[in-house]
Amino acid sequence: MSDEIASQAIAGRDDAPPRLRRRIVRRMLKGAGVTFGLLLAVGGFLYAFGTMQPPSAEARAQYGRAVTDGSAPAVQARFGIPIPGCVCHTDDAAMQVQHSSYYIRDCKGCHSR
Ligand code: HEC
Repeated sequence: MSDEIASQAIAGRDDAPPRLRRRIVRRMLKGAGVTFGLLLAVGGFLYAFGTMQPPSAEARAQYGRAVTDGSAPAVQARFGIPIPGCVCHTDDAAMQVQHSSYYIRDCKGCHSR
């Protein structure tokens, strides 16, 4: 049995040496810290660059026609990560297409809540 496994087996017992228990606890805390940090990083990244899901082809086509006849401004395509489940619920094609280019960090610029 490797030292690692042996010490883990011992650490679970009431008579495990305190020094060993501290080492195991430290390792667990470190794992939790790394996990928490990663979740925070992913959350921050999605806040900065996350967007809603892309509008349907139908909505895009409808908006495209509005751009062509000059009744709506063209929307610049830009880098974004569509967030699963984050969908626009309106039937308004212009609203869908325009909102699909906003990052989550942009929302609060126009919406107070
Ligand atoms: C450039 C400004 C702007 C940004 C950025 C923006 N919105 Fe909007 N949003 C609007 C406007 C304007 C409306 C239309 C308001 C209305 O008709 O009452 C609207 C409407 C909406 C509606 C529909 C409200 C309703 O009553 O039907 C939702 C939901 C919404 N926005 C969510 C978001 C989310 C989520 C984001 C971030 C991804 C976002 N908005 C970013 C300007 C913005």
